[in-house]
This record gives sequence, structure tokens and C-alpha cells, in this order.
Amino acid sequence: MAGLTSPTGAPHAAILGLGTYRPTRVVPNAEVVEAIDSSDEWIQQRSGIKSRRWAGPEESVQMMSVAASRIALERAGLDPRQIDCVVVATVSHMLQTPAVATAIAHELGTEQAAAFDISAACAGFCHGIAMASDFVRAGSARHVLVIGVERLTDILDLNDRGTAFIFADGAGAAVVGPSETPGIGPVVWGSDGEQFDLIRQREDWRDVIASGDLVMPHLTMQGNPVFRWASFAMAKVGQQALDRAGVTLDELDVFVPHQANMRITDAMARSMKLPERVRIARDIADQGNTSAASVPLALDRMIAEGDAKSGDTALLIAFGAGLAYAAQVVVVP
Ligand code: COA
Repeated sequence: MAGLTSPTGAPHAAILGLGTYRPTRVVPNAEVVEAIDSSDEWIQQRSGIKSRRWAGPEESVQMMSVAASRIALERAGLDPRQIDCVVVATVSHMLQTPAVATAIAHELGTEQAAAFDISAACAGFCHGIAMASDFVRAGSARHVLVIGVERLTDILDLNDRGTAFIFADGAGAAVVGPSETPGIGPVVWGSDGEQFDLIRQREDWRDVIASGDLVMPHLTMQGNPVFRWASFAMAKVGQQALDRAGVTLDELDVFVPHQANMRITDAMARSMKLPERVRIARDIADQGNTSAASVPLALDRMIAEGDAKSGDTALLIAFGAGLAYAAQVVVVP
């Protein structure tokens, strides 16, 4: 039997650069309340959202991804030809196939990088970071571009009280590559498919077509059980990610939870007993919940505003439809 060589990669992986794209259109609560019989006060009190960003016609999944990626590449000091794998986390690329990652890799000018999409909803970016770290350490790729991107307004029912005010659009990208020291801790991830129906596309496309009523099968969510699950179960997952990384609460600088709801963020911080000193991402207030894009958007903003600095230790945690979740500790680029 022929002997095979085993792949070998870098000793460690790290995020080398981060970039984001926020749609230009700012949509205040006042613009969404009428269709859902709500109020600015109710939305702010229940979710912490004051306004959100919604994409215009030109701000496609591909366009936003490429814009965010160019910034991430520049900050990482890399040329697109040095990227050998592109992973795109999204649920709002509207073609079943091919993956939008291939078009993004081509537009960026990679040299035929491996490129594929992953579907892990709001947890997608943290799944992508975990995979990229493993690819780099195993030698499957040297530099991986991980993108979290959503244009949720394409699948949003603007008359649905449970979702219309929450979800939004945007993109975040991270370049993951080799490092002398550990920059991405072990992932803690999982799923609870028993709760498959809590956040989902309302109908199967085949049922929509069979019904003859060609209406987009929108996103639907049972907010209250999701809220309870996220507030309690996810704090434990965050603690496990800290433990697995060997990082104590005293060593943690920054907490970047998925921007689902400000009250979920507060409940998690309380459950985890985060010290006052730990800076917490609160991007949702004027960005809304951008699903796979929310963690990189929130972290990038903290860096831009001086709340996170290079070398800081940050806990990332994301959760959503599936229900799927993933968390890891990273070193801020
Ligand atoms: N505007 C005004 N009132 C609304 C409303 C809206 N958009 N939606 C619901 N209500 C009303 C309900 O009718 C209900 O009224 P009642 O008490 O008179 O019966 C009341 O508000 C409470 O409804 P409920 O659904 O229990 O609200 P909630 O406190 O759970 O808040 C969410 C709703 C959606 C903000 C909250 O459940 C949530 O954030 N869930 C998690 C969302 C999330 O994290 N998603 C991320 C997945 S990625």
C-alpha cells in the first residue's frame, strides 16, 4: 500500500485583518412601526434598536462582501492572490447554486481560491472562523477569507411584527492566517435541531410553487422561546469557550455577542458575571440584527471607536436558526 503524506500547516492561526460594509440607508424605527402596529418606544425597550441599515438595490450580497473583504485584505497587508480559500456565511444569497463565494473570490482577484458558502444562520461567522483556523493549522489553506454577509431585507416580511423591526443588512470579513502565537481559541459549537422551527423560512419552496401563490417564503421567528434560550443557554457556552481557551474573566477584555437583542446581551453579561471592566459590543442599537454579519460588524466598530485594541482578548459568540451556535476566544487584530 502506498504511503500518503499527511497535511501539515502553521503552528497557530490568528485573525490578521478585519473589514466591514454597512449599507448607506439608515432606517429609524419611525419608518417601520406603522406596518407592524408598533412604536419607537416598544422597539427600543424590547430590543434596544433605534435604527437599522437596509441595503439599496446596488448593495448586493456580493457587492457588500467584496467591499468588506478589500478592507480586511488591506489591513492584513495581503494581496488577494495570497488568499487560497474563501468561506461565506450567509442565508440570503438568493441562488441555490452556485455559491456566492466563487463569484466573490473571482471579483477580488484570487487565483482560483477554494470557495464555498456555509449555512449556519446567525452563528455562521463564528463557524467560519473555527473552520478557517483549522484549515490554516492543518495546512489545507494558508490564508482564508471568512465573510459573514446578509441582505435579510430580501427575505423579510415588512408586515410581520416579530421580525420586521429586528433584522438588517451588512457584511463583515476577516482574513485568517498563520501566527507565531495562538490567536484563535478552541471553538465550542453545537446545535439543537429539536428547535428547528423557532426561526425558519416559513415554507419549503416546493410547497410555495405547488400552491400557485408565488410569494416569497419569508423569515419567521418565535421570538420569546428564542429569547429565553439565548439568554441562558448561551452564557454557559460563552463560559465554556473561555475555559477551553484557558482565559479567565480577569483576562478577558472584550465581549462580542451576536447582536440579536440588547436585552439578550445584558442577560448574558449578567449570567457570565462579566467584570465591569470588560467592554461589551452594542452595535445593534443603530445597525439592527444582521445575522452572520453581526459579530464582525460589532467587533470592527469597537476597534474603530477605541473600545477594542490590537492584542486584546475577545470572546465571540453567535447563535440563531437551527438552533445553531458557536463561540471562541480570539486575539483582536
Ligand atoms: N410591536 C408592539 N408590540 C408587539 C410587537 C411589536 N413589534 N410584537 C409583539 N408585541 C406585543 C405582543 O402582542 C404582546 O402583547 P400582549 O402582552 O398584549 O399579548 C407583547 O408585545 C409581548 O410579546 P412577546 O412576543 O412576548 O414579546 P417579547 O418580550 O418576547 O419581545 C422580541 C419580542 C422579538 C423582541 C423578543 O422575543 C426577542 O428579541 N427575541 C429574540 C430575537 C432574537 O434574538 N433573534 C435572534 C435570532 S438570530
